[in-house]
Amino acid sequence: MFAKLTRLVAVTALAFGGVAASQAATITISCGSNASDLEFCGKYAQEWGKAHGYEVKLYTPPSSTTDNLALLRQQFAAKSSDVDVIMIDVVWPGVIKDHLIDLKPYSHGAEAQHFPAIVANNTIDGKLLGMPFFTDAGLLFYRKDLLEKYGLKPPQTWDELAADAKTVMAGERKAGVADFQGFVFQGKAYEGLTCDALEWVNSFGGGDIIDKSGNITIDNPKAVAALQTAASWVGTISPEGVLNYGEEDARGVFQNGKALFMRNWPYAWSLSQAADSPIKGKVGVAPLPMGPGGRHAATLGGWQLAVSKYSKHPKAAAELVMYMTSADIQKKRAIGGSYNPTIMSLYKDKDVIAANPFMGQLLDVFTGAVARPATVTGLKYPQVSQDFWDAVHSVLSKSSTAPDALKRLDGQLKQVKRGKW
Ligand code: GLC
Repeated sequence: MFAKLTRLVAVTALAFGGVAASQAATITISCGSNASDLEFCGKYAQEWGKAHGYEVKLYTPPSSTTDNLALLRQQFAAKSSDVDVIMIDVVWPGVIKDHLIDLKPYSHGAEAQHFPAIVANNTIDGKLLGMPFFTDAGLLFYRKDLLEKYGLKPPQTWDELAADAKTVMAGERKAGVADFQGFVFQGKAYEGLTCDALEWVNSFGGGDIIDKSGNITIDNPKAVAALQTAASWVGTISPEGVLNYGEEDARGVFQNGKALFMRNWPYAWSLSQAADSPIKGKVGVAPLPMGPGGRHAATLGGWQLAVSKYSKHPKAAAELVMYMTSADIQKKRAIGGSYNPTIMSLYKDKDVIAANPFMGQLLDVFTGAVARPATVTGLKYPQVSQDFWDAVHSVLSKSSTAPDALKRLDGQLKQVKRGKW
């Protein structure tokens, strides 16, 4: 299994100038897999390598965060020194804490510039296990031109979203775009579905699966209503295929001009505005719609840079982390790849806001995002999330009813908890 997964992963040596490769130590960095990650992580890491006499290699992890974590855990179990700097998801520190070094001796207090909640998330037993790299929150991307064509405004509620999607789908299909879709999102059975479904549940007033004190709260009528609503989209305003969509699948449909609405993360903005994008200049960004209880909810995502305990060059790796998470690089990544900074002052930077108007307009979406129950469940979070996404997937695919799925989930989570988290 390990060998098989490893073969799936491309390790790309970046061009290296200056010092002869044989004399230079190699630092390998894993920082995402989409086009923007490769460009806006690889380029800057390489510049650092040139300036400091290291060969920097870029390691491309699996695109699904779930597969990425599975592979990483196998590498840690083997105490592999293959990757020095690892980009880790905001829900991972409690899961992989034993395999990362404390960055405090290298940070010289730089973490004070970053959002305190993210620094707290990354600090376990007093150790700073990851420097915040970028933050994420779920957003509604919409086709400005099409809403205007049909005399509509960005939807405030999920019901409005469904009604608008039906109107525009009918019109566009009649006009000849046979496969035009209303709404695309992340419906595959993986961590991305946990994020989307938490937004539905929370916006309906159904809580956040497990509360901050560790109580399992998911089996409630508002959560049932949220999942029933989401299930009603599949096969009507969303294609059946959405049950197998990750972020990039949804973006592919939307960016090809084949969907009115898309739920995705901020990175999708810069790609939608690229010179060769068919929807350049036609996209708006809004908070995700409210449920009947009347609240917008966006799941908190985001990524940190960490150093593997098994790295042969921990000092150099930590220095690379500090460089990549600095204000200078976060600004460049925000402008080039629409990665939301974790350094608070960059939200007042006029170049960042000019490139990404939504970062200024929707600042409260980012600061008020809903966390997944990763801190309270610690090492058990991956199991909790998997049980949740499986339950949600069974409702979306109509193999369970929402009340049955959530009742069963409640029982499964109690078993995972077994007394305490
Ligand atoms: C994004 C988020 C991350 C989340 C993932 C789910 O990458 O930043 O936190 O786990 O999507 O697919």
